[in-house]
Amino acid sequence: MINNVQKYPLIVGNWKLHGSKRMIKDFILSLKYEIRHITSCGIVIAPPVIYLDFAQYCLNNSNIMLSAQNVDVHNEGAFTGEISAEMIKDVGAKYIIIGHSERRIYHDENNNIIAKKFWITKQVGLIPILCIGENKEEYLSNKTIEVCVQQIDAILHRFGIKAFDNSVIAYEPLWAIGNQVSPDPDYVQSIHQYIRQYLAKYDKNIAQKIIIQYGGSVNVNNVVGLLEKTDINGVLIGGASLKYDIFSNIVKIIEKTKNI
Ligand code: PGA
Repeated sequence: MINNVQKYPLIVGNWKLHGSKRMIKDFILSLKYEIRHITSCGIVIAPPVIYLDFAQYCLNNSNIMLSAQNVDVHNEGAFTGEISAEMIKDVGAKYIIIGHSERRIYHDENNNIIAKKFWITKQVGLIPILCIGENKEEYLSNKTIEVCVQQIDAILHRFGIKAFDNSVIAYEPLWAIGNQVSPDPDYVQSIHQYIRQYLAKYDKNIAQKIIIQYGGSVNVNNVVGLLEKTDINGVLIGGASLKYDIFSNIVKIIEKTKNI
């Protein structure tokens, strides 16, 4: 049995294809005020990449961090329309979400492409948030563990366990994203625990420290039940991260839950 030693919950708001300059300015100013006393959580927002620079400007003097939602597999060159990890770093972001199911589904990203994106993120010194998880059919046929292990192995077998040092895994069952249904916290805990034990076979220290987030219809009502579980170290929030009052309430609830 491997004990999770991660005491610093990581809360990431994934805005997907939402936002505007006005919304970002209002959101960040209000969020900064609402969570000014919170010091024991990592708080990250992931606006569309075009707004990262502006968001960084608005965040001035704040502990709130930035994430991109995607990255290219190259760092420079003739790749029209792409954004590199170096550029994301250059504008001040610290994290990049890699392999979100919406990228896997709508942009045909497979485990091979995702592994390259994960690696280039590490190479420039940013932190990848690797999204893994099963779809409904896989869930119903008890393939959750098999799918998650395959998605982790795509990185583990190519780059080794050290790639997971200072990386984040987000377990996001596809059937729970954006549909108001979130799985039973005991179920989520069992998957997170399995992932941690699996990584521990390769490196106990990395497995104990790695942040394993849950994502999929997280809201003010279900977040306590989830964060009470020992192996759930944070949340990746979509819809409920778009309003500063809801997002800041979730942050406050998590701080209380993890401090009990
Ligand atoms: P949701 O999205 O919170 O709206 O379900 C989560 C995600 O896709 O990361």
